[in-house]
Amino acid sequence: MTTFVLFGGTGDLAKRKIIPALYSAFLNGRLDSNFTFVGAAREAISDDEFRERVAASISSHAKPDGVGTPEQLKSFLAKTLYSKIDARVDADFAALKNKIASPDSNATLFYLATGPDIFVPIVQQLSSHDLVGSQARVVLEKPLGRDAQSARDINQALRTYLKENQIYRIDHYLGKEMVQNLLALRFANSFLEPLWNRKWIHDVQISIAEQVGVEARGEFYDHTGALRDMVQNHLLQLLSIVAMEPPVNAAPDSIRDEKVKVLRALHKFTPDEVIKRTVRGQYRAGAVNGQPVVGYQNETGVPAHTRTETFVAIRAEIDSWRWAGVPFYLRTGKRMASRSAEITINFKPIPYSIFGTSQTNLRSNRLVISLQPEESVQLFLKAKEPGEGIRLSDVALNLDFAEASTSRRVEAYERLLLDAMHGDLTLFVRDDELGAAWDWVDPIMSTWQTDTEGLKSYIAGSWGPAASSYLLAQHGSTWGEEF
Ligand code: BG6
Repeated sequence: MTTFVLFGGTGDLAKRKIIPALYSAFLNGRLDSNFTFVGAAREAISDDEFRERVAASISSHAKPDGVGTPEQLKSFLAKTLYSKIDARVDADFAALKNKIASPDSNATLFYLATGPDIFVPIVQQLSSHDLVGSQARVVLEKPLGRDAQSARDINQALRTYLKENQIYRIDHYLGKEMVQNLLALRFANSFLEPLWNRKWIHDVQISIAEQVGVEARGEFYDHTGALRDMVQNHLLQLLSIVAMEPPVNAAPDSIRDEKVKVLRALHKFTPDEVIKRTVRGQYRAGAVNGQPVVGYQNETGVPAHTRTETFVAIRAEIDSWRWAGVPFYLRTGKRMASRSAEITINFKPIPYSIFGTSQTNLRSNRLVISLQPEESVQLFLKAKEPGEGIRLSDVALNLDFAEASTSRRVEAYERLLLDAMHGDLTLFVRDDELGAAWDWVDPIMSTWQTDTEGLKSYIAGSWGPAASSYLLAQHGSTWGEEF
């Protein structure tokens, strides 16, 4: 790919993630030498003004090893251009075409980091200006749609101009190192597979806790909420990888074929089940890391009295031979006590303890796959404490990937950008996966709309509403941090 066009080029995501990722790929020699970067957005700014913003985004958001030298930055900026774009204005696309080095060569990657409502108008314009030939690729940011119907409408309209294998629906969690490691852990080792089922697993917990609030995105977030922002995509993608059957090989569609089966097998909730199996919350003022923070309703851009959720916990189930009856607990929230993304596999307790009842309060074996802040896999086992008599305690076999390998860490966005440039669809979401995920989320959204009592509040800096602990306690489990 020789040209990278970023729609939403002056937006928050571009600034925080996409531009630093592109620059890191450049610093590491991963971009073609004749590469051009074109930022596109509605603001009327010059190439130089855009370059200043690009430099500012790199200095504030690149990792310490991703800043490079002043000469490197200069040569990246020399490849950077800007094009003012309004999706409704034909002439804007003609001007964009002039900025693309070789518009007919299909050597362009278009990244739509905009709201989903303008995905179709943009692609329509690109197509009518002959910018999306049979090899061009289009990356779409999440959330794609607001519900199952709108997502299907968008996907169907896009297919008028693009083939499915030209569409790269991004979910940056799939680009995280440990998510791919999960595939290796499950399908390159023999000892886990016999245990990976309802016979040995008590429950699975997938939790993404954030300390940040809604930052500068209050208005966007309030229209979205945690269910659409995190559960419909990141959490369900993680769940599908944990629960999928072994694919026949590692080709993109073999993996995606298995993931979509899991998403389709998710038990769809009746309204009554939505009430019993979901918890939603909104943070009120509190303190995070000892610093006072305002409540959600006082965040900039958020309307007073809004009922949008900033926390979700769900007891999901998968209707399949492997998983029937095993709870999959999903949880995510803003302004929580600490930042972590973890998958915990809790194994069933031993059938009987030969060591007597005094040892029974120990937690059963568990496997904890930590995506962030650390990248690690820990297997918690019981072992005897040294000394007289038998006293058991929990010990961890700990595989810390930061220690185990000194290879360069590639951030999720950089990896996914490079995959899209190289035409590798494995870590992108296919239309049927997206549809199946929305189909599961839809009944939850519609019941929440009518259930006005269900939104709980929680103190910023806590682990969410008490009801989230109760959701697990009813089935003999606790969240990791509570044990
Ligand atoms: C994004 C959400 O997709 O993921 C944000 O829109 C969230 O609200 C972010 O903060 C979390 O990503 P990460 O990689 O920081 O865990």
